[in-house]
Amino acid sequence: MARDAEFRKIVSPKKLTGEISIHGDKSISHRALILNSLAAGTAKVTNLSPAKDCLSTMRCLRALGVKVVWQPSVAPTVIVHGCGNSHFIEPNNVLNAGNSGTTIRLLSGVLAGQPFFSILTGDSSLRSRPMGRIIQPLRLMGAEISGRGGDSYAPLAIKGKKLHGIEYHLSIPSAQVKSAILLAGLLAQGETIIEQSLPSRDHTERLLQRMGAEIVFDGRYIHLSPPTSPLNSIDIKVPGDISSAACWLVAGTIHPDARIRINSCGVNPFRTGIIDALRAMGARIRCENERQEGNEPVADLVVESSQLRGIELGGEIIPRLIDEIPLLAVAACVAEGVTVIREAAELRAKESDRIANTVKELSRLGAKIDELPDGMVIRGGTILHGAEVYSHRDHRLAMSLAVAGLVAKGSTTIHNASITDISYPGFWEVIQKISILD
Ligand code: S3P
Repeated sequence: MARDAEFRKIVSPKKLTGEISIHGDKSISHRALILNSLAAGTAKVTNLSPAKDCLSTMRCLRALGVKVVWQPSVAPTVIVHGCGNSHFIEPNNVLNAGNSGTTIRLLSGVLAGQPFFSILTGDSSLRSRPMGRIIQPLRLMGAEISGRGGDSYAPLAIKGKKLHGIEYHLSIPSAQVKSAILLAGLLAQGETIIEQSLPSRDHTERLLQRMGAEIVFDGRYIHLSPPTSPLNSIDIKVPGDISSAACWLVAGTIHPDARIRINSCGVNPFRTGIIDALRAMGARIRCENERQEGNEPVADLVVESSQLRGIELGGEIIPRLIDEIPLLAVAACVAEGVTVIREAAELRAKESDRIANTVKELSRLGAKIDELPDGMVIRGGTILHGAEVYSHRDHRLAMSLAVAGLVAKGSTTIHNASITDISYPGFWEVIQKISILD
């Protein structure tokens, strides 16, 4: 792979220590922006994620006529002026979702019922990710939506139609697909019912509930009736992003001299698979000051150096830690014994093929790791050594390789490192802040 001028070097520090305030959760930030755009009134969203992906959602919403205004304050804050009747205006250009699967899939659901024509596209990674999974249910709801490659990929062309509710069995545990259907269901006639094979993050359901929608959900079934009056705008303080915090949970666990505190982190049970898996491996992670903020559970997390052992993972935990699997693979390299991750073939449909690329790049650091069709096998107890590694322009891979570099002997160079801005602007500065080099 070609080298780039934009790389980061990591060396293992003597000690990892500090207190981290994590930025707002990316998944919740997208939803806070989109749902408040559809609602009546103005909403203040504080601690919004500064991730590039969320800026993509904001850019698309503005192109659809929504007024979103930045407020000068310490934590990123915006005021969203809802359009009141769930109706946007026709964009005069193609909508660009950048690298963001959540932006393109959730907005497809919104646009399917709008009375105008729109086209959604994204960068080369997003244009290679599967879109048939949203096209199919939205068409069942009456949408006129098509995509490149025989309705498989973006660009997506949508001609808004009158929609009707459906009863849909969701065979892939995807919160993006689920949310696309629910957002379309807001503008449909009649009830929308979704049955989930395995539950996935429920941030859309929780926000809709807070905004006054008629929604009932229990982890398996979701029933949504289209609102008879506009959704209420709500002020939201976005909890800290557990997928970003996971970098420090893994780093703090595998480094021999570490103690890190992460303040105000979201601990939604459909996102805490990484804590459960690390604890099952022997990690010392404490949740303190557990509380409810908005409609989401939040806690402060404390992690300390731990002796890890390998585990087997599959089934219901996979959607609860899907974005954290590359990081977990790093922990598994250091753990004693074998770790097997299965039923995670979805990883191949992320920003890059995260099974192939995690295996390829961790192997360069000396990991004993093999690919499975739906996961990976890691033989642990390895002393990783520094090397040149590549992010494959995948933010989660870049951060996982940096975390591996924090325990590797010698220096690790990560190429195409600034891709971390997709979900975690400031990531490299936090590494610097918590690393005590001598
Ligand atoms: C997300 C859902 C997950 C996750 C992604 C964010 C969301 O994707 O991997 O990073 O915000 O709904 P899938 O819905 O494709 O599983």
